[in-house]
Parts: sequence; structure tokens; C-alpha cells
Amino acid sequence: MKERIEQLLEEVSAYKASKLDEVEQLRIKILGKKGELKELFSSFKTVASDQKKEVGLLLNKLRNKTEEKIVELTSSFAQKEDDGDSFLDLSLPISDDNLGSRHPLSIVKNEIIDIFSRIGYSISEGPEIEDDWHNFSALNFPKEHPARDMQDTFFIDKENALRTHTSSVQVRVMENSTPPIRTISPGRVFRNESISARAHCIFHQVEGLYIDKNVSFADLKQTLLYFAKEMFGDKTEIRLRPSYFPFTEPSAEVDVSCIICSGKGCNVCKHTGFLEILGCGMVDPNVLENCGIDSKVYTGFAFGMGVERIAMLKYQINDLRMFFENDVRFLNQFKSTI
Ligand code: DAH
Repeated sequence: MKERIEQLLEEVSAYKASKLDEVEQLRIKILGKKGELKELFSSFKTVASDQKKEVGLLLNKLRNKTEEKIVELTSSFAQKEDDGDSFLDLSLPISDDNLGSRHPLSIVKNEIIDIFSRIGYSISEGPEIEDDWHNFSALNFPKEHPARDMQDTFFIDKENALRTHTSSVQVRVMENSTPPIRTISPGRVFRNESISARAHCIFHQVEGLYIDKNVSFADLKQTLLYFAKEMFGDKTEIRLRPSYFPFTEPSAEVDVSCIICSGKGCNVCKHTGFLEILGCGMVDPNVLENCGIDSKVYTGFAFGMGVERIAMLKYQINDLRMFFENDVRFLNQFKSTI
């Protein structure tokens, strides 16, 4: 019996495993219910009494050595797994249970950026906390203009407010660069509005600006037609209606032919056949001069659109609040759109 135990002790200390399974095999062989130890203990009674002490010690040694070996081999496998060693089965298919989806506003914003990048527009950004000059004064807002009113603007102090539109970025770009300028500015804007299905106090805009020699209203119209077709489909038409913005002259509001009824008239377009998507115009010479650009040499156009508005039309979402609630049942519907 002594020899048998010593033989097993040697076997255990020399034991090597190439997989976790083989460690388990060792455990079963020595420590298992029908294992060697069990068997040896049950024949312990046959050992001569003067040998009992020695054999008993050997049996305990075998149990301890086996347990130590199992711990040692198991932890070496755990280590390998951490190291990303070959123990990892890289051929297993990955589980995609936890993949998130891109937010619809990001999808639309990225699409707008893509469309304008293809015709050479760069991206510029500006601060969300703006001073009066960049948000209003440089953009030709008269001192008493209602947009400066407390009801629309979140003021921080007398001089600074949360920007009410991304047009503030066009001022910063013009101040800091020389034409030709061709840029779009996506970003968050803030207005003191009560939250409803159609309005929110935080929303997103993309501003566009093109300044060079001889830029005309025809260039503006063609650029916006290109944008509308890329965004809503090749059959889309646009319509420009005269409007007023302090920073553009002339100014216009732009409608696209209804993407639901293609202009025939439906509930979505309130039977007009058209949907308003953005404001635009030729940059007012006062604004160019305010930003250090010679209005006798350069002309340009600007436009501004709401990302929520475009997303609502594109995905037929009729409540703006959906974008901010982040209900996963809503967000999951955009998984395939990425
Ligand atoms: N800033 C305007 C707004 O928030 C949108 C806008 C209109 C931007 C006309 C422009 C523009 O650049 O030319 O309502």
C-alpha cells in the first residue's frame, strides 16, 4: 500500500494538463467518490497496526498534494485567459445581445454632415455659452429685438447666455478666417420654451455658411436642392418663401415637397404638399463687416436647420419629446439604420 501511495504522489506532482478538463480528470481520479483515496482509505483497516501511523500520514499527504496541484493548475488556466492566451476560443461566435443603437438625432446629424462634406464643407463648432456679440449683436439683431427677451433666452448674466442658435458659430468662423469659407456647424441650442410635442428647451441645429467672391442666391438655391434630394430622395422638390432674419438679406424659408404624399396633400403636410425644413438667405453686408470681411469684395449665403425637425419628418415621429426620453423601445427601432 505504501508503494501505491508513493507512486500516486509522484504521478500527482508530475501531472500536466493542457485543458481545464484534464484538471477535473485528476480530481476525479484521486479525490472522486470512487477515486484512489477512497479506495485506499477503505483498505486502511487491513494495514498492520505498527504501519498505520506512517500510512495514515502518507494518505493525508496524497490528499493535500492533490488539492494543491488542482488549485495550481486551475489558477494557471485563469491567468492564461486573462492574458488573452490561446486558451480563449476565438472561433466562438460573438454575442450581440448588448449592442446599443445610435440615437436618431445622431444618425440624422451624421447624415447632414456627410451630405455637405461631399461638396467640400468643413465642420466647425463653437461654445454653448455665448456672449451677446456672437449670439445677437454681430448678427445684426437690433437692441430691442424680441429674441433677446428673457422669455426666449436663458441668460447667465448680463453679457452671457446659452446660445439660442448655431448662427453664433458663423460669426466666430468669419472673425477667425479669410474667405473662401465653406462650413457647417452642428450643435445644441437652448430656448426658454415650455416642453411639448412640438417644442423643447434644448434642441439641435446645423448652421451652414458659404462666403466667397460672387456667391449668389442661385448658388444657395442649388445647394439646398442638392441637400433636399440627398436627404429625402431624388424626386424631392424645394420651394423658397420670402422671410425675414436680421442676419440675412434677402431671407427665405425653405420647404420640401411632402415626403409622405409627394406633394399631393396629406395630414402630415396639412394638405399643402410642402413641409418647412430650414431658414436661409444671403449674409447681410452688416454681418460681414461686423466680422471683418469686406462686403464689397465678398458675398455669401447662410442657412440653419433643426435636426429634430428633419428627423421627425424622415422617421415620421410626431412627438419631439421621444428624442429626449430615451425609451429603449423607441431607440431600438433605429438599430438597422446605422
Ligand atoms: N438661426 C435661425 C434660427 O435659429 C435659423 C437660420 C435662418 C439660420 C436663416 C441662418 C439663416 O443661417 O440664414 O431660427
